[in-house]
Amino acid sequence: MPLTLRCDELIRSQNFIAGRWCDGAEARTLAVTDPADDARFAAVPDSGAADAHAALAAAHAAFPAWRATPAKQRAAALKRWNDLILAHQDDLGRLISREQGKPLAEGRAEVAYAASYVEWFAEEATRAYGDVIPAPLAGRRMMAVKEPVGVVAAITPWNFPAAMIARKIAPALAAGCTVVCKPAEDTPLTSLALVRLAEEAGFPAGTLNIVTASRERTPEVVDVWLADARVRKISFTGSTPVGKHLARASAATLKKLSLELGGNAPFIVFDDADLDAAVDGLMAAKFRNGGQTCVCPNRVYVHEAVHDAFVERLAAHVGALVVGPASRAESQIGPMINARAVEKIERHVQDAIAKGARIVVGGQRVRNARADGPNYFAPTVLTGATPAMACAGEETFGPVVPVFRFANEADVVAHANDTPFGLAAYFYSRDVARIWRVADALETGIVGINEGAIAAEAAPFGGVKESGYGREGSRYGLDDYLHIKYLCQGQLG
Ligand code: SIN
Repeated sequence: MPLTLRCDELIRSQNFIAGRWCDGAEARTLAVTDPADDARFAAVPDSGAADAHAALAAAHAAFPAWRATPAKQRAAALKRWNDLILAHQDDLGRLISREQGKPLAEGRAEVAYAASYVEWFAEEATRAYGDVIPAPLAGRRMMAVKEPVGVVAAITPWNFPAAMIARKIAPALAAGCTVVCKPAEDTPLTSLALVRLAEEAGFPAGTLNIVTASRERTPEVVDVWLADARVRKISFTGSTPVGKHLARASAATLKKLSLELGGNAPFIVFDDADLDAAVDGLMAAKFRNGGQTCVCPNRVYVHEAVHDAFVERLAAHVGALVVGPASRAESQIGPMINARAVEKIERHVQDAIAKGARIVVGGQRVRNARADGPNYFAPTVLTGATPAMACAGEETFGPVVPVFRFANEADVVAHANDTPFGLAAYFYSRDVARIWRVADALETGIVGINEGAIAAEAAPFGGVKESGYGREGSRYGLDDYLHIKYLCQGQLG
């Protein structure tokens, strides 16, 4: 089915460099497919080193003027961008759903979520305050001022093709940085549409540049940016192995890094929890985007005293989820992003069963008249999960809930922390003392306490341990794009 939008202007099939839409230097293309049926419906440039160099040259040339632009003007451009994104919420939501597969309601919600970051950083742009420091010596004035770091390379993931680009690019532009961006190979169209709206919002030529590339050619693009000292910061959301590679490869020029990497979130239900609230929280956190989020619960620990009651209520909710393509209004779980994703989910489920887990609901691929494609997996609940299973150690990134039974608080906290990752954790309890004890003990950057929906533009999003460093959103998010310069004036009499 061809892609049509109310505003066809948003369907872009070129890179955007130095304020112009242009083909890739080598005229190679990357097919964009619909995960619902794997059918190709669009194509964008499969860019290489020449395009990466051109984008970087444009961002570098634009930097002096953009950093000198008063913060209020930068904020005004961001506000126009926010308004345009919201004005095109339907089209952008449809684009997200088409190339990423999430149900339409979630696609539309993601557009609002993306815009919330743009609006937030439009406001933060004017608040990059420094400090006047009381001087320890007479005759001196000492100050700390904040400056944009320079050109930022933003490398964005496929699971939230609008929100992740917004929460990297908006703070960068707010801070006075210029940007080169490489969106995920599975979902380039949403990013290009957002850049089209940024063009309309009036950002000067070169402040925001984007090149698209396939998985195979992405290293060629990114290597140019990694090697070049003019790129002063990399902001990346994706896997931990790639994050480590970026950290190693950018060491030669000591770039600043924001790395939002893999998670393995525990979700703990204590025996004093409100079970209905815990089920609702788990449903919201786990099944958003079909389980394809870095913060979605990967390991669910339930106290033995409430285990059976919790599993029964959870299974009723999970079994009622409607699987189908984004295009059908009733769909709640769309297709997974591609064949590799479904294979991984299937491997985790089969491994768990081989090691003693029991399927309560789901457990296999889905292919029927409604979900008529190769990438659907049934929402699944498994009981009897153990640390030896692959789903305990790796992020499944799909609609599978492995339930572990536990008996005491100290043990479950130790299990929850027994992972190299530390992005998000959740727990449900009504005991105030336990709430503070467990919140302190969990080794993650984010903790949901009696709450499954933790994401918000005003909150600092990011991890610890091998989930990365840096924070996105919130007032801390702007600092990741600024450095501090200390000014010392002497001879003041
Ligand atoms: C992510 O999965 O990386 C982001 C999820 C979110 O913003 O809530």
